[in-house]
Amino acid sequence: MQCDPLFEVKGMVVIVTGATGGIGAQISRCLGMRGARLVLMDLEQETLDCLADSFPGDAKPQTRRLDICDEEAVDNAVRDVAKKHGRLDALVNAAGIYRVAPIAELSSADFLDTMAVNLTGPFFLTRAAARIMSEAGGGRIVHLASVSSLVSNPEYGAYATSKAALSQMIRVAARELAPKGVTVNAIGQAVTETPLTQKLLSDPERRADVLSQIPMGRLCEPEDIFAAVLFLLAPGGAFVTGQTLYIDGGRTLV
Ligand SMILES: NC(=O)c1ccc[n+]([C@@H]2O[C@H](COP(=O)([O-])OP(=O)(O)OC[C@H]3O[C@@H](n4cnc5c(N)ncnc54)[C@H](O)[C@@H]3O)[C@@H](O)[C@H]2O)c1
Repeated sequence: MQCDPLFEVKGMVVIVTGATGGIGAQISRCLGMRGARLVLMDLEQETLDCLADSFPGDAKPQTRRLDICDEEAVDNAVRDVAKKHGRLDALVNAAGIYRVAPIAELSSADFLDTMAVNLTGPFFLTRAAARIMSEAGGGRIVHLASVSSLVSNPEYGAYATSKAALSQMIRVAARELAPKGVTVNAIGQAVTETPLTQKLLSDPERRADVLSQIPMGRLCEPEDIFAAVLFLLAPGGAFVTGQTLYIDGGRTLV
């Protein structure tokens, strides 16, 4: 695919975590079509294999089972990719979970699980990638945050707290890693139709409510997210760091 050099990701070695999820799979395809050398990671090897098989022969990605909450497994997975490919150019973390309930009813398990996957796991990944990228003199780290990094929706006590903390963690990491040429950013997208939001969006009333809060009057499409990920990984995004880029049709303006 012919590409503007500002948005070129061809040949980049990129880890995608949460790669078989609704957004992760689409980001993986988008990067794969543009010639990135991908290593896809998620909880189930079988699903990863299915996804990899859907890529054309010359772009078939590698896969590896990874629970991002397993500190040692994260360190090993990231180090192994760098060793095998001789470098690690970028890490895109699209893993996440979504548990909602009013604070008075939110279970401790749901709160703690949300923190583990949406915050502690991203910390393990950032740390592992930062060590390798700092030594190599550069790299790009992108997490999927959410409009919930800013917006305080009722029932989002766990989810919004995890995403707000993630958006702050990337600011600190970005500041520390800037002198090493490593950028750390997040995408803050509005609601997108994926398995994560299936229950929410299949209820007509709640769907209408979600749409009514987005000034542009539509959901976020995967393409909206690709453009931002490409920008943050490619040469054009080299000077952007510590940002949560809101791709939200104006949702965070409301
Ligand atoms: N869909 C939306 O509307 C929306 C909006 C804003 C932000 N986000 C964020 O975008 C990201 C992707 O969401 P999605 O809609 O694709 O969700 P999804 O449920 O379709 O996919 C999430 C993926 O994360 C993986 N995962 C969960 N726990 C994991 C763990 N411990 N280790 C490794 N992988 C794990 C799951 O297996 C799944 O493949 C999430 O961080 C989510 O919070 C989604």
